[in-house]
Amino acid sequence: MARESLIGRMNRKAFGYLASRFPPTPWADLTRRTVETVQRQVPRSHAEKYELKTIWYWYPLYCLGGISFVAFIILTITGILLGFYYIPDGTIEFTRTGGVTSPAFRSMHFIMNEVPFGFMVRGLHHWAAHVMIAAVFLHMMRVYFTGAYKKPRELNWLLGVILLLVTLFFGYSGYLLPANDLSRGAATIGINMAKAVPPQWLGELQTQLFFGELDPTGFYIIRMYWFHVFILPLVGTLLMIVHMALVWIQGVAEPH
Ligand code: HEM
Repeated sequence: MARESLIGRMNRKAFGYLASRFPPTPWADLTRRTVETVQRQVPRSHAEKYELKTIWYWYPLYCLGGISFVAFIILTITGILLGFYYIPDGTIEFTRTGGVTSPAFRSMHFIMNEVPFGFMVRGLHHWAAHVMIAAVFLHMMRVYFTGAYKKPRELNWLLGVILLLVTLFFGYSGYLLPANDLSRGAATIGINMAKAVPPQWLGELQTQLFFGELDPTGFYIIRMYWFHVFILPLVGTLLMIVHMALVWIQGVAEPH
């Protein structure tokens, strides 16, 4: 009998090792069943599946929750990239010509002008934020006008309300981070509004809590950064998971 080559023996050993531990038959069987199930279901349209008499032309609006989530994923990825270069320090400094600057503002300048594709990553982050806010609002309107907030979905509506607040706070905290004139103006408005809430001790307490100071000197940047990259992503991600798990468990409230 001809002697088996070295390669042949190694091949047999490697495949024998794998085949005895991970036998292919159940996997092949599983794959076959999955394929057959998909093939059985795909040709049935939604209308066929639920035996609908009319097609609901508002169905595309049922994408809006998913669009909010996709925007959130894009924001997470581009946000992580921006985090490599952004410096959350709003300490006010003056340029030689008397202009106002800060390490945070200079780091934004660096991202826009020096970091390869930095302006694109910031642009994506900026526009995905706009898309997310719009999509979340429109999603809420879709849920309201199709009556999908009614029993048994009251809890998911309430989770949605918190998600709306989280999304808006994401937007506001991010708006302050570039530390440019516009964001300093927005910080001043926010601080004054928070402080104006009566009684005085409560107004000042919440201003300290949210901005870390009672007058906009630039310290608010690190506080907003902490909300923007730690607290809000943590709370938001957990709530989104529960929100979508409930949709999965309860099913989408479809108008038929
Ligand atoms: C970060 C924000 C949000 C995300 C990522 C999100 C995601 C989703 C997704 C993927 C669905 C499945 C159906 C669909 O897409 O229309 C859904 C359903 C739902 N969402 Fe949201 N959502 C968000 C905010 C909100 C808000 C602000 C509200 C209301 C105040 C809300 C209330 C609901 C309700 C009640 C359902 C069930 C609707 C049904 O069964 O037809 N969600 N959400």
